[in-house]
Amino acid sequence: MNAGLIGITHAGTVLTGDRPTGPLHLGHYAGSLRQRVAMQEAGYRCFVMVADMQAYTDNAEDAAKVSAAIPELVADYVGVGIDPERTTVFLQSAVPELAELTAVYMNLVTVSRLERNPTVREEIRQRGFERDIPSGFLCYPASQAADITAFRATHVPVGDDQLPMIELAQEIARKVNRIAGREVLPEPRAVLSKVTRLPGTDGKAKASKSLGNAIFLSDGPDTVREKVMSMFTDPGHLKVSDPGKVEGNAVFAYLDAFDPARDEVEELKARYRKGGLGDMPLKRRLADVLEAVIAPVRARRTEAYADRGAVLEILREGSRAAREEAAAALAEVRAGLGMFSL
Ligand code: TRP
Repeated sequence: MNAGLIGITHAGTVLTGDRPTGPLHLGHYAGSLRQRVAMQEAGYRCFVMVADMQAYTDNAEDAAKVSAAIPELVADYVGVGIDPERTTVFLQSAVPELAELTAVYMNLVTVSRLERNPTVREEIRQRGFERDIPSGFLCYPASQAADITAFRATHVPVGDDQLPMIELAQEIARKVNRIAGREVLPEPRAVLSKVTRLPGTDGKAKASKSLGNAIFLSDGPDTVREKVMSMFTDPGHLKVSDPGKVEGNAVFAYLDAFDPARDEVEELKARYRKGGLGDMPLKRRLADVLEAVIAPVRARRTEAYADRGAVLEILREGSRAAREEAAAALAEVRAGLGMFSL
């Protein structure tokens, strides 16, 4: 069941989140979602944030898209097993203390430091911003440091593209502590799953909504099966008897991430490499494996999404609790930095 999870040895506080820009897919599930659920089960204090303010940093003129994605994201959370009774699920913009803390942190980080962030650079390239970068977008890593430190998070389960953000949060925490002359904030650390990056169904390095190569947690059984059946395998594997390549083969990448029968997968790999194993039986196996993962998620997700009032109540209740936490941390940071208070 736990294919791809890292061992968890001691408890702490978890903060993580996602931009509400579209439904979550199996890449999110393998990379971060199931790790969060495992940490919730292991008794960590957990905060999961719908990062709407961060979503606006490159969607300022498409707020409707963000609005539509917010309840979808909460339903995805409930679907994968994030339990609002045990995990505080909240909306970033409903915790204004985070914006205030961001403003404080922007004085602790230089523009050139922000410009060096490899993930932000890649996003700027992908979005074609060139020199017309929204300043909020360039600064979102400082805002993310605020998200993390406002909850004194010790653990941040994320995909590997988020490592530069965690690094900046560590730097900022260290700087606050140095100026304060005592530990005001713990230094957070990233928690990566064994599967840090799930390829797309087309074999491209990353599954993503914009590339149209992802299997969504909300996909119906027929869609899941169709996507698996058209998955990229090994273009050189023409006849069943030909030796096939396992590396770069999306079907094996997904089996590695989700098939609980590890030994059988290793055996299949050996047979595939040798020749004599066709793509079809593998794809049929994968379709069943994925359906077994997605079916319970889909059922809970559909049920949660149907009750919009309850979804909004989860966010309202969570945001109220989150505000208390964030206000306390903000007050400590301000005091630690010696800022004037009335
Ligand atoms: N940047 C994250 C993403 O794109 C979302 C996010 C915002 C986040 N704030 C966070 C993740 C704080 C972890 C911690 O998915």
